[in-house]
Amino acid sequence: EGAAEAAVAAIGRGEPVLVHDAAEREGEVDLIYHAADVTPDAVARLRNDAGGLVCVALSHDVCEAFDLPFLADELDHPSATDEHLDYDERASFSLTVNHRDTYTGITDDDRSRTIRALADAAADPDSCDFAAEFRAPGHVHLLRGAPDGVADREGHTELGLALCEAAGRPPAAVVCEMLDADTGQALSPADARRYADDNGLVYVEGRDLLSFRR
Ligand code: 5RP
Ligand code: CA
Ligand code: ZN
Repeated sequence: EGAAEAAVAAIGRGEPVLVHDAAEREGEVDLIYHAADVTPDAVARLRNDAGGLVCVALSHDVCEAFDLPFLADELDHPSATDEHLDYDERASFSLTVNHRDTYTGITDDDRSRTIRALADAAADPDSCDFAAEFRAPGHVHLLRGAPDGVADREGHTELGLALCEAAGRPPAAVVCEMLDADTGQALSPADARRYADDNGLVYVEGRDLLSFRR
């Protein structure tokens, strides 16, 4: 079994996986869960062991159903114009949200509540009144998947959503960058592999996920 198959199986079982996008892109490893599996303990792992920004990637179709925009298109401020990233055409950031039943929104319980409700919303968009269920701004960053997924963009946003799809699960992936706790730099692929081995998790290269899908 290759790493891509193992990663899809892990997401199918409710386990997180580590995904390195590409050395020539961000060169970052994200810890990725299916959103439905993000318990309060999983949020603790994301903030303690990954350390980056905890985001929920939703597919283009789900974002369309809920009218979730790119944040940069909505901000009426000069800093939001002329976005130039060195590694991609645009960031996938959409709104930030909290479930309306949360208090501050940042605790492990609150973020888990928001994230799992987003998984339910993605599973059945027709039965969710998004604005009645979530408020913006909040403490969970939404990411908007490209229309044709990895065929359009090869970010962690689309790689996470591709894993959900391959595992036959709704299009809602939690992604969070792994940072080196000592240096604050992106965790190296070698150190990320070590973390995966030590914790019985799957590490996969983005290119292996892309070729598995073709
Ligand atoms: C949000 C990010 C991360 O890089 C995340 O992996 C999503 O971005 P991308 O799809 O560009 O990889 O910036 O914390
Ligand atoms: Ca990024
Ligand atoms: Zn990324």
